Amino acid sequence: MIEIKQASEKDLDLILSFIKKLAEYEKLSDCVVATTELLKEWLFEKEKAYVLIAYYDFKPVGFALYFNNFSTFLGKCGIYLEDLFVDSDYRGLGIGKAIFYELAKIAYENNYERIDFCCLNDNEPSLKFYEKIGAFRQDDWGMLRLDKIGIDKLANKKI
Ligand code: ACO
Repeated sequence: MIEIKQASEKDLDLILSFIKKLAEYEKLSDCVVATTELLKEWLFEKEKAYVLIAYYDFKPVGFALYFNNFSTFLGKCGIYLEDLFVDSDYRGLGIGKAIFYELAKIAYENNYERIDFCCLNDNEPSLKFYEKIGAFRQDDWGMLRLDKIGIDKLANKKI
């Protein structure tokens, strides 16, 4: 039996463990500096993002972390999905799809127009999964980032 539930503060260790597992899968473990203290502050005190936990026969086996974005062209909020992960032993059982059913339900009920997300180009299995659930690539858009060093420089007018 698959159940999808909103996470609460008691799930902080679990959330961090899923984040680390996803980073390991993406060979980006060195990039994870998040701690349960930081997650507590940003997820449950400042409420800047939300987490869904997927249970299979009452065992937590996957998660999704998302937050609201906004399209000025549409004049509406949407959902940005930052992370999606299902434990390797539980893949192919419909759990990823069940998480997307829940995200789509949240979007539908709130009249959001889009669910956006990024996926590494070499993550073929997940790209196939996303295609299967009806998502499509945005090849004409590239991703850019201003990191902390760039922010510090601009904030202090050093560029
Ligand atoms: N190739 C082809 N089809 C696939 C694949 C695949 N590798 N994986 C899933 N599908 C299909 C399934 O066959 C199923 O089709 P059906 O509805 O016709 O039966 C459908 O997609 C749904 O599959 P689920 O079983 O719900 O997928 P799963 O529970 O395995 O979750 C997920 C997919 C989340 C991508 C999982 O494989 C995973 O955690 N991968 C590793 C982490 C990862 O790459 N996460 C995404 C990173 S990008 C981001 O986080 C925004």
